[in-house]
Amino acid sequence: MRQRAKFGSRFAAIMAMAGSAVGLGNIWRFPYMVGEHGGAAFIIVYVLCCLTVSLPIFFSESLIGKTTRKDTYGAMEQIAPGGKLKPVGFMAILAAFVIVCFYSVVGGWSFNYLIRSLAGSFNGLDMASAREVFASVGSSPVESVSCMLVFLGMTALIVVAGVDKGIGRFSKISMPVLLVMMLLIAFVSLSLPGAGKGVEYLLKPDWSRLDGPAIASALGQSFFSLSLGVGCILTYASYMKEEESVLTAGVWTAVFDTAFALIAGFAIMPAVFAAGIEPAAGPTLVFETLPVIFSKMGVVLPVIFFLAILIAALSSSISMFEVAVAWLVDQKQMRRVTAVLSVFGAAVVLGCACAVAPSVFRACDFVSSNVFMMIGALAFALIVGWKLPREEVLRHLRFPFIYAVIRYVAPVMIVAIAISNLL
Ligand code: TRP
Repeated sequence: MRQRAKFGSRFAAIMAMAGSAVGLGNIWRFPYMVGEHGGAAFIIVYVLCCLTVSLPIFFSESLIGKTTRKDTYGAMEQIAPGGKLKPVGFMAILAAFVIVCFYSVVGGWSFNYLIRSLAGSFNGLDMASAREVFASVGSSPVESVSCMLVFLGMTALIVVAGVDKGIGRFSKISMPVLLVMMLLIAFVSLSLPGAGKGVEYLLKPDWSRLDGPAIASALGQSFFSLSLGVGCILTYASYMKEEESVLTAGVWTAVFDTAFALIAGFAIMPAVFAAGIEPAAGPTLVFETLPVIFSKMGVVLPVIFFLAILIAALSSSISMFEVAVAWLVDQKQMRRVTAVLSVFGAAVVLGCACAVAPSVFRACDFVSSNVFMMIGALAFALIVGWKLPREEVLRHLRFPFIYAVIRYVAPVMIVAIAISNLL
């Protein structure tokens, strides 16, 4: 039998998981959410959500991967030999695939903006022309499709190089570099005159804004940010070495992810306020507001910023791509190259549809994050809480209170967020 792939070291495994977690969610959603939902008050709630719900789900998902040493589908089959859980495995793989397709469109925009900033074309950009540039990038089929293909191609190249030599090595190098780049931008941003207002926006606690929807957003965001529910973490954990602990990996990933989200906040919001612009969220923030602001600070800063976004997006997309590749390699006995080419071929089709039709893009985003991810996360928590033998779970998770949270608290909370997101 072929030897199953493994990460070469604990550092590689943790950086790969952190890479999956750190992505567009940290850069374009978190900073805005914090400001809108009560600053430090929201940060405290976000951290509590991570500790009490998302992290226990992360532990559950990684425990399933680590103990079965299978891809997402194979793991489900092994846990329930009658095949009752097969649909869950299949759905998670499909969800990861769907996410990578629309994520690649945004990854393509980042690549496009990196090239534009390298060419110095943001010099002296004002808000009106920034809007025009983004509208033309998003609506030109040739530009969207070709950049999406470049991004998807880069993802496939890293994955085809192998679990340790591709994903592990890329993550070990890119995560520390990414951290340094974001710290540098935060430093520049915080030293601008008027930056204090941005700090205030992020930190001033306002408990009155912390209502039900704010708490649901905090939970939903921590789910998306930790890449839960679609098998990314399960698959990566299945490549961990025997002696390594899922607790350590989970805690480090959550710490890195949260720290990165906060640093991104300090890199972005002080600069936005210093320029006297209203903060926004999502694509508008990254592709309209920020190019205008960073273009005033020379040619190097925009390059660093868009390179950082590209790296953050790539380290996430490889984790989703690997979910389907692992399935083809483990279950269909394909060679890695063939598996990567097959996933790439299928992703090109859906990716092109997402790149040219905003309605397809939105539908993919909605279904995967509000439906598939929630079902997957619920299933993983229920499997570990109610199906796997208690002794085995406790051997990995050590603390009985984590087990209790997985059994009772996590499932209730997942159903609550799913309902509030769909309303
Ligand atoms: N966590 C990543 C981000 O913050 C995105 C991501 C990667 C993801 N894998 C995932 C989201 C799986 C949901 C499910 O951008």
